[in-house]
Amino acid sequence: MTENQETTEVSEAQIAVHWREEEYIQPPASFVAQANAADPAILERFAEDKFPECFHEYADLLTWDERWHTTLDTSNPPFWKWFVGGKLNASYNCVDRHAQANPDKTAIIFVAELESEEPDHISYGELLRRVNEFAAVLRDFCGLKAGDRVTLHLPMVSELAVTMLACARLGVIHSQVFGGFSGHACGTRIADSGSHVLITMDGYYRAGSLLDHKEKADQALEQAARQGQEVDKVLVWRRHPGQYASAIPMAAGRDFFVDDLLADYRGVTVEPVSMDATAPLFLMYTSGTTGRPKGCQHSTGGYLAYVAGTSKYYQDIHPDDVYWCMADIGWITGHSYIVYGPLALGTTTVIYEGVPNYPDGGRPWKIAEQLGVRIFHTSPTSIRMLRKVGPEEPKKYTYHFRHMTTVGEPIEPEVWRWYHSEVGKGEAVIVDTWWQTENGGFLGSTLPALQPMKPGSCGPGVLGVYPVIYDEDGNEVPKGSGRAGNICIRNPWPGIFQTIWGDPERFVATYYTKYNKDPNSTDWRDWPYFANDGATQAADGYFRILGRVDDVINVAGHRLGTKELESAALTVPEIAEAAAVPVIDDIRGRIVEMYVSLKPGAASEGVEAKVSLAIETEIGKIARPKNVWVVPDMPKTRSGKIMRRVIASVSNFADVGDVTTLANPEVVEGIKHRVQSTKVAKGELPRQLSEAEYEEIAKFGAES
Ligand code: WTA
Repeated sequence: MTENQETTEVSEAQIAVHWREEEYIQPPASFVAQANAADPAILERFAEDKFPECFHEYADLLTWDERWHTTLDTSNPPFWKWFVGGKLNASYNCVDRHAQANPDKTAIIFVAELESEEPDHISYGELLRRVNEFAAVLRDFCGLKAGDRVTLHLPMVSELAVTMLACARLGVIHSQVFGGFSGHACGTRIADSGSHVLITMDGYYRAGSLLDHKEKADQALEQAARQGQEVDKVLVWRRHPGQYASAIPMAAGRDFFVDDLLADYRGVTVEPVSMDATAPLFLMYTSGTTGRPKGCQHSTGGYLAYVAGTSKYYQDIHPDDVYWCMADIGWITGHSYIVYGPLALGTTTVIYEGVPNYPDGGRPWKIAEQLGVRIFHTSPTSIRMLRKVGPEEPKKYTYHFRHMTTVGEPIEPEVWRWYHSEVGKGEAVIVDTWWQTENGGFLGSTLPALQPMKPGSCGPGVLGVYPVIYDEDGNEVPKGSGRAGNICIRNPWPGIFQTIWGDPERFVATYYTKYNKDPNSTDWRDWPYFANDGATQAADGYFRILGRVDDVINVAGHRLGTKELESAALTVPEIAEAAAVPVIDDIRGRIVEMYVSLKPGAASEGVEAKVSLAIETEIGKIARPKNVWVVPDMPKTRSGKIMRRVIASVSNFADVGDVTTLANPEVVEGIKHRVQSTKVAKGELPRQLSEAEYEEIAKFGAES
């Protein structure tokens, strides 16, 4: 069965969702008075009849070596090409031009987790020096050139931004793997991208301890080698130059300390390589329906224009702002809205190393006060967590946010209100930005000075992006109907990814085949982008995103594929079958529970711990299941498919629905009794689920 057919089955139901519509909240006049997009004429400039030329306004925020001749080339759909003929360099745009105009201005403030370490203010001039010197290492010591791929496995440190920008300077395609991912996960991504160089760090601080990170590099290389990819150089930044924080020995001739290498490149400058707008800038791996992660390939010109434009109008970044996005650069949010967008606009961006609640739940507000942060950007999971551990903390600090963002998951209106009144002190606008790794930048959001906020809804499509909700048959679900369907984007936009690295067929099948009207058409109108999210649209045009319609579980804003989780569990020799399901969680949105059955004769002793460890090893700690349930048999259809919706319902104390068509309906009661009584005994009773949450669980994984 193809991935696409599976997806179709999964999102079958046409569900009625009866949301209580929330009230509008208007932006404060003080915000409107200074906003970058305060004149409604901007909505006209981006109206559909101005597409695609409307996006010149974004591209004109950049400095081009050569201007494009074709704004949007649709000749090979759905592989859209933006700003064809244009040439530019991303590192020049994010560093050089600001360093020339304003060398002493702070580009990056690195805030270490330990408060004893002073924040490091890196000026644009200094950033330029660091980027040049490291680019020289990459070019002259590693022999890297435009088009080569390099895997980065770095924590939240300024060296990560320097590394990305140094790659961009050379046209080398960076592929940063989230630092919290395991060595195995990193190794798979090294192999998929064909990287010969890995760039990592010895250790970093998290929740108060210095973690050994270099150990993951050795595991990554072994895993990559098993998949046929040899890595010849490992560059190791040291968290404290001169001091090695890892217990793992450096491999002679393969592993090199970056601070040692840099000694030979002091003051060396590297000319930024003028790249085609359509040349890839980076890969960002994400999860999908099948087990294999997808390397989303982002372009240089379209991507950079899109993140610059959306940073200006939706993040309302002005050059003199101190802007803090508390995401991880290892995810797309960090690439677009910590590094590339803010730096393209020449603002000051904060990089914070650690967890938000170290040493206590007031840390973010303390940092905001110390640094004078005016724009703050985070996820619902962090907001829920900070609200839980320190509801009164924001009051203790005298920061003033003008603008706040939420991203990555649906946010409950109640949590939104705490963010607005307590964190924002009622003074800040909020944008709820909906988008995906594949998209480069925002797809759905209010334009903060021009469109009022509505808690729980992301808002309409952003400038130049025209979303639509389709049912399974491709009929438009009208706004205000209260019905949910699959949210799609009718048109291409400059931030859209170019392809899945090495797998163009999967790119077409996953995102375009479902709603394509004519495979031979070169008219973009025939190629809606299928986002794999469910949504409803209110009468006012605002969208409410309900969550994934494919087999992806969004844990604290991190996408985890059920197939990835299941194949990790299957590495435990005792396991015959495994199924991953989501459980609604008050802090992390969703958490994972695993159901496993054993091979005949296998001992059940310690299997739960082995499964957890296997998932941690294959993917990373973020994926660790809340519970592992060993069951005698999985509930299955007559054709032998595991009914994930049945076990998902059991785990969430929801109605298991009709089980009479199962091949083995008798197993359900036993599983339910054991799982639910154990959860009750552990105090893991869920709260009352909303209607939409019940729907999600009842549909989860459909049949397969
Ligand atoms: C979900 C993160 C509701 C959605 C930028 C999407 C959201 C997935 C929102 C992408 C939001 C993202 N409201 N849900 N504002 N933003 N999502 O690729 O299900 O890590 O498909 O990109 O997160 O996650 P990804």
